[in-house]
Amino acid sequence: MSIEIDLSNIDEVMNLKALEILKAQERFVISYGGSGSGKSIGIAQVILIRLLSEETHRFLIIRKVHRTIRNSVFQTFKDIINIWNLQKLFSIRESDFRITCKNGNELIFSGIDDSEKIKSISGITSIWIEEASELLQKDFEQLNLRLRGETKSKKQIYISFNPTSSNSWLKNRFFSDKNDIDIKIIHSTYLDNKFIDNQYKEELTKLIDIDKNLYDIYVLGKWGELKGLVYPDYKLIQELPEEYEHRRYGIDFGFSNPMALVEVRFIGKDVYIRECYYEVGQTTQQLIQFMQNNGISKQDMIRCDSAEPDRIQSINEAGFRAIQAKKNINSGIDAVKSYNLHITEDSVNLLREIQSYKWVEDRTGNTLDTPIKMNDHILDALRYSVFTDIQKHTISVITAKKHTSSFFGYDNGVSFSNRNKLFHNLNNF
Ligand SMILES: Nc1ncnc2c1ncn2[C@@H]1O[C@H](COP(=O)(O)OP(=O)(O)O)[C@@H](O)[C@H]1O
Ligand SMILES: [Mg+2]
Repeated sequence: MSIEIDLSNIDEVMNLKALEILKAQERFVISYGGSGSGKSIGIAQVILIRLLSEETHRFLIIRKVHRTIRNSVFQTFKDIINIWNLQKLFSIRESDFRITCKNGNELIFSGIDDSEKIKSISGITSIWIEEASELLQKDFEQLNLRLRGETKSKKQIYISFNPTSSNSWLKNRFFSDKNDIDIKIIHSTYLDNKFIDNQYKEELTKLIDIDKNLYDIYVLGKWGELKGLVYPDYKLIQELPEEYEHRRYGIDFGFSNPMALVEVRFIGKDVYIRECYYEVGQTTQQLIQFMQNNGISKQDMIRCDSAEPDRIQSINEAGFRAIQAKKNINSGIDAVKSYNLHITEDSVNLLREIQSYKWVEDRTGNTLDTPIKMNDHILDALRYSVFTDIQKHTISVITAKKHTSSFFGYDNGVSFSNRNKLFHNLNNF
């Protein structure tokens, strides 16, 4: 069955950059740039149009981690189907994230971490990799291999991301050969998004007062600089080690900010870290439910954000061993840095935070000993969980730092409530 669609006023509902993506014929279509530039919605629109107007399509929509699909890419497609009033043409299966069009074309969603599912899908005709900076290059190359052979329809891989780190494999893979005819690069910022709301725009542009690197990445869409990172060194691992000396968890509470839970396994001077939970808009009860359903240990200590004693009590009432963490930031960072850090590949939010967690710079470019209070939720949870063992050795440092460095000292006129709103948005895009 072919479906007639009228695209005569498509430019009223799509940004110009999205129309460029629709026109692209190259195998690799790269949509990168600042936050809020319409990258995700634009690609989803393009895919829906192709799904309706081309024959025999099975689109694979990929993110690194399966659990992030429901609230991101899957929701985006459902929203557009509703806004464009196409409900009659699609059936949506929530149980395994599959959207089928009346003409037989399909959208299948999967996390890279669900490799069995990916292997089992045959006849893929195109792929969208959302937040591609979360993937390793080997994840990408395997997907690329999947998209071979003859199909009736044009085979393409759409790739979207914020350029968070100039060390990323994406830069080397797609930006070093300007003459590669297989690659189309489309750059966008919020200025290219005619649908962006004023509040979003305001919060984004305020980044200029917080950090130039974050402003460059999320507002200008330029590749992030690695200078001044708090934790520049860490290794990626696939799994946590099964054998270890001891284990601890850390929690940073949030609601409009993400609620973050991290697990840390200790072996000598090595720590092995995995993000367990990172969600916005969740209550303590929802976190507890997650902990109960996902095997969080009731024997091992959970160090929590000390500003929230009621929440700690609720967690204890559910049978866990939660206690207040030591708050001193610099001593906590020193404690984390005294270990060799190993982070699981699926800890996507932790990896995103660690790549932009930097020391504050003064106007002349000198690095101060205060980290930028931003994008640090799961990093705070990590600090809480680690900073206890060597507390005794650092007590003199704590006392000394109390007098010399003011946590709020670097504040440059941006209120904390605004910052919080900003974290929220940045964490969602
Ligand atoms: N075509 C569109 N129609 C309506 N709103 C849009 C459209 N494209 C983008 N937006 C608005 O802009 C915001 C940011 O778009 P999004 O695609 O999420 O940006 P990015 O992926 O670049 O961060 C969305 O939350 C939405 O409010
Ligand atoms: Mg996006």
